[in-house]
Amino acid sequence: MLKIPLSDTTFKNIRDYIYEKSGIYISDTKKYLIENRLSRILQEKNINSFEEYFKLVSFNSNGNELSRLFDAVTTNETYFFRESHQLTTLVEEVLPGIRNSKNGSNQLKVWSAACSTGEEPYTFSMMLMEKRLSTGSFEIHASDISEGVLASAKRAVYNSYSVRNIPDTYMKKYFAQAGKDFNLNAKVKATVNFRKLNLIEDRNSKSMKGIDVIFCRNVLIYFDTRAKQKVVSNLYDSLNPGGYLIIGSSESLHNITRAFRPCVINKAILYQKI
Ligand SMILES: C[S@@+](CC[C@H](N)C(=O)[O-])C[C@H]1O[C@@H](n2cnc3c(N)ncnc32)[C@H](O)[C@@H]1O
Repeated sequence: MLKIPLSDTTFKNIRDYIYEKSGIYISDTKKYLIENRLSRILQEKNINSFEEYFKLVSFNSNGNELSRLFDAVTTNETYFFRESHQLTTLVEEVLPGIRNSKNGSNQLKVWSAACSTGEEPYTFSMMLMEKRLSTGSFEIHASDISEGVLASAKRAVYNSYSVRNIPDTYMKKYFAQAGKDFNLNAKVKATVNFRKLNLIEDRNSKSMKGIDVIFCRNVLIYFDTRAKQKVVSNLYDSLNPGGYLIIGSSESLHNITRAFRPCVINKAILYQKI
């Protein structure tokens, strides 16, 4: 495979364009990442230079090219029961309070805001089902900027890496093995509504309202401070008063916002909308 050279100027143009469209900030030291991840697209399209590619993608800024670019530059690492202490704390300690405050009448509304291939929202759904919550008593929305991962999420066929942390009881109840694949049961699949949503675009986030719990885990790390502030402010607006925002356990809202009350429960930090 012939290496296509990427000049510093074109790298910066592409990097700034990705930032403007997604909030994802790629530092100078990550030039190799753009080179590696985009070379395949150039080859597929028979394009000989990154300059030509940049022209193509920027003139076709709302269409398939942008979508393909997002698929290539996003990091989609995820798995079932990731950072599960946060989920257990939420289900055991926090949800009863939220449900009581709703007098049991309204549905619990949950949003997995950067869901990748679906393991996060499906894990939460299974946990709610294990708590004997009827599927009609909760609504789970899940979104991502990448169409590629959303297609996988809807298929809900997983490999051994993805399922490695799933407790046996869940595995037996909710998955069927077919060769090397693990197929998620249709009842769980039906509880999650997937859609494409770019968190940096105000109009997108504003379409999500009245949410009780938002998961936005392991995505803010890809944004710079300005983009984090914008995204978190939109997430704040999507939450009901008293609702919770859950970020990754290695992430922090320090210097981003003071609009949430950090609640430390069983060593998990959950951010409550004041
Ligand atoms: C590392 S995965 C995290 C998945 C899951 N939340 C977890 O913690 O396991 C980060 C996801 O954020 C998505 N993402 C990146 N920028 C985004 C944006 N501006 N809007 C929506 N999703 C975005 C990526 O496509 C990727 O699937």
